[in-house]
Amino acid sequence: MTDTLSVDGLTVHYATREGALQALRDVALDVPAGQIVGIVGESGCGKSTLINALLQLMPENARIAAGSVKLEGEELVGATQRRLRDMRGRDISVVFQDPMTSLNPVLTIGRQMRDIQYREPCNRAEKLRRAAGMLGRVGLPDPQAKLDAYPHELSGGQRQRVAIAMAVLMRPRLLIADEPTTALDATLEVQIIELLKELQLEIGCAILFISHHLGVIAELCDRVVVMYAGEAVEEGPVADVFLHPSHPYTAKLIECDPGRMKTRAALLPSIPGDLPDLTAPPKECIFRDRCDKATELCRTKPAPVAVNGAHWARCHYAAELGL
Ligand SMILES: Nc1ncnc2c1ncn2[C@@H]1O[C@H](COP(=O)(O)OP(=O)(O)O)[C@@H](O)[C@H]1O
Ligand SMILES: [Mg+2]
Repeated sequence: MTDTLSVDGLTVHYATREGALQALRDVALDVPAGQIVGIVGESGCGKSTLINALLQLMPENARIAAGSVKLEGEELVGATQRRLRDMRGRDISVVFQDPMTSLNPVLTIGRQMRDIQYREPCNRAEKLRRAAGMLGRVGLPDPQAKLDAYPHELSGGQRQRVAIAMAVLMRPRLLIADEPTTALDATLEVQIIELLKELQLEIGCAILFISHHLGVIAELCDRVVVMYAGEAVEEGPVADVFLHPSHPYTAKLIECDPGRMKTRAALLPSIPGDLPDLTAPPKECIFRDRCDKATELCRTKPAPVAVNGAHWARCHYAAELGL
């Protein structure tokens, strides 16, 4: 079966005064049909750059220097603007951390949900009926009345439900969720995770879920990709990666995760040391500077090392660390 999303060799540079900032380097990942794949990594590791590259919505100074992004086998890098516009919202849709990113403050919810269906052959009443149906499906009370509401009349949690309803209304093949629960309290977070799981089953879409909260990734995802300083450093089935982290960076993230303390502290994982300078990324292992297991061998850049089955890590010592 073809993967819903297939990313290979993806390399993205930003033009800066200091030269090309190499925000993503040779990133490969697949999201199989019907699966939920998580991406985790500290701030600055390239998560937003990856999403923007997938959507081909990049800032002026960004450039895809190499690589390929395929949606069900169709290449998006170099696709026409027209084709890309066609696919966004219908084949690929996104839920952002801040729901106001995708909601228009001056239009009613009903109007916005009707607009998304502009390609559908049905009439206005039918579009509104579908919109209300989806609002009810995502757990909003009194969906009919919500059609006439403006975004600011809803709570933050309700707005995120509306954003999710809008994202899945056209039954996309790929749903990208960029930290969709980070701004919500813990109870709401659990509810939204449950909702995403249910919708994934009903709609049958694949989900790429970005978060720096490991507990949420563990709860929701089938597979996880760990990113560090613009590289994918470890990938595998969620249970394998979390029980047998095979890259020292992943092991540190798990040690630092506030979720382990069973409270939802505002602390994010923090690991001593700084990210490398991405305008001149080191030729050696990207994590060597911050790794307490580093040896002379780590002055050569490790290729992905298979740990077992579909679990690999870019560390010379992956096989022994993952035991
Ligand atoms: N438009 C831009 N111009 C220059 N550098 C950028 C731009 N956007 C992001 N970066 C840099 O690219 C790297 C990755 O950023 P980003 O993708 O936002 O990471 P994350 O979402 O994981 O926090 C960071 O070093 C960031 O400073
Ligand atoms: Mg980001």
